[in-house]
Amino acid sequence: MKTITRHLSALMIAAVCGSGLTSAQTTNEMTIQTNKIGAEIQPTMYGLFFEDINYGADGGLYAEMIKNRSFEFPQNFMGWNTFGNVSLKDDGPFEKNPHYVRLSNPGHRHKRTGLDNEGFFGVAFRKGEEYRFSVWARCAKDAPSKIRVELIDPKSMGETQVLAKQNIEVSSPEWQKYTVILTPSETETKGRLRIFLDSDNSVDLEHVSLFPVETWQGHENGLRKDIAQKLADIKPGLLRFPGGCIVEGTDLETRYQWKNSVGPVENRPLNENRWEYTFPHRFFPDYFQSYGLGFFEFFQLSEEIGAEPLPVLNVGLSCQYQNKGPKAHVPVDELDPYIQDALDLIEFANGDTTTTWGKLRAQMGHPAPFGMKFIGIGNEQWDSIYPEHLKPFITAIRAKYPDIKIVGSSGPNSEGKDFDYLWPEMRKLKADLVDEHFYRPESWFLSQGARYDNYDRKGPKVFAGEYACHGKGKKWNHFNAALLEAAFMTGLERNADVVHMATYAPLLAHVEGWQWRPDMIWFDNLRSVPTSSYYVQQLYATNKGTNVLPLTMDKKPVTGAEGQNGLFASAVYDKNTREYIVKVANTGTEPQPVNLNFAGMKKGSSLTSCRVITLDAPDPESENTLENPSTVTPKESTLPISGQKLTTTISPLTFAIYIVK
Ligand code: AHR
Repeated sequence: MKTITRHLSALMIAAVCGSGLTSAQTTNEMTIQTNKIGAEIQPTMYGLFFEDINYGADGGLYAEMIKNRSFEFPQNFMGWNTFGNVSLKDDGPFEKNPHYVRLSNPGHRHKRTGLDNEGFFGVAFRKGEEYRFSVWARCAKDAPSKIRVELIDPKSMGETQVLAKQNIEVSSPEWQKYTVILTPSETETKGRLRIFLDSDNSVDLEHVSLFPVETWQGHENGLRKDIAQKLADIKPGLLRFPGGCIVEGTDLETRYQWKNSVGPVENRPLNENRWEYTFPHRFFPDYFQSYGLGFFEFFQLSEEIGAEPLPVLNVGLSCQYQNKGPKAHVPVDELDPYIQDALDLIEFANGDTTTTWGKLRAQMGHPAPFGMKFIGIGNEQWDSIYPEHLKPFITAIRAKYPDIKIVGSSGPNSEGKDFDYLWPEMRKLKADLVDEHFYRPESWFLSQGARYDNYDRKGPKVFAGEYACHGKGKKWNHFNAALLEAAFMTGLERNADVVHMATYAPLLAHVEGWQWRPDMIWFDNLRSVPTSSYYVQQLYATNKGTNVLPLTMDKKPVTGAEGQNGLFASAVYDKNTREYIVKVANTGTEPQPVNLNFAGMKKGSSLTSCRVITLDAPDPESENTLENPSTVTPKESTLPISGQKLTTTISPLTFAIYIVK
């Protein structure tokens, strides 16, 4: 018997050596150096990137339920049906949104005048909940008028179901805001808001608005509570806004202009949304930016979810994909207004209330500074035109606000000519951070576990500002994509001395209105669902620890390299909870032993408990949907542990976090 066992062992060793694996690799012996507390993990490390794509703002996070509320779309009645005697006027009370409607007597007592709004893919409301309808209105002199406002179920037009209604008397010839609460008697996902003229006298209406009363933090010009809560639940350290390509605009005229997004919401001018027409197969002619969710609201949201705000501004270049040649861009010697926008933004966020822009912030309800520390200049730019444009911004910002950290760009690609050109340029310009973007297939994520291991430690820090695993041929949120993101992120964590920020992208997508996928959170008008990728982000952000710990297998970092059995791993220490947190992704289809040796602990001291959080799925193609939101969710359990070692097994296709006391 002994001889047989010896033979078997010899054979096993031969097999192991023959396969190029050492015995440490067969049992996946990983060593965590607990006495080598390494780089600090930045509070900004895991964050969020918000862009108004996929109806992420209007029709999404921004809780306004009325589309084209100010009648400013190029087709002024887009989103509205009118009936009876309705006319469009353009001398309204809000300079930047001059259009409004006049509802007049239809000329016969049996005829009716009014209009109804289709909302964003329907006006959706829940039984018994309160919705705040508001409108700016006026009547003619000495001719008081009346309107009736209804939430209706249009499926039964013909035998219309009125699910909520209120009357409003308009008695002043001066423009005034009128507000009523509507409480529907039924839930409806494809409802409409309808307004009837209910008097012989005419009435003028402007900025017709409907919000749930219950918004995130109760703000009147508020955000959808369910979606904002999901953002908060990630515990993000950073919020990048207002986006990527929308910062650039299709042309400079349509670039995002933050100054248009602040001040009274009624007077924020409409902007085109470039995602309206970017993809002809996902064409949405009614996609505009109301700027109702503007820079004030972004700063406020950042504060409320505990994230550092990172606004990104246009660098004087319109989208380089869509514009060839220098004409579409601002000449460098004409950049002053753009640079002034950047300086004014810092004043808006941080200036005291005696400054022009700080005063506006205070008038909007936030006298205290927002404490902005970072600014991004430019999104996906390339060629020498970018550093040439960026340079004067850096000079001006450094001169006035030396403490603000400036984020430059490395272009739209994760490697290649533009990337190789821009990184040294960013170094020369002394950008504080460089934004990298990578929407890449599975093979890329599997091969990039060591991406940052040899990055220059002296230059700018890395902001992995937009990334997601795009399955080859399968661009949706399947579990395998999330698993590979988790695997790749061990490399971000191991290199936290040089990687200071990382944000998955895009963040939000309306199931009926998306242009780009995968995305982190999907929603319809009443529901929202976190994807597997959401949980990966959340697991990293809520278990980020405070300092990196060296973790090796056979003295090498565990990066999914050949001979590492499809494993990726990283370790951190959390000074606050005094826990070791080890993240392991098994990207292979076999279970793998995991032996975690906690080296460098005091002699005789012992680990006392181990919690393990796992993320796995019935199938690599599993996904969470609005109908089945919990197919992939993290599960927590405990493992027995004693001494200075954890011995366990990780299932195939699994991401696991071991939290050891
Ligand atoms: O996230 C979607 C788009 O991808 C961003 O707008 C842009 O920066 C990138 O090309």
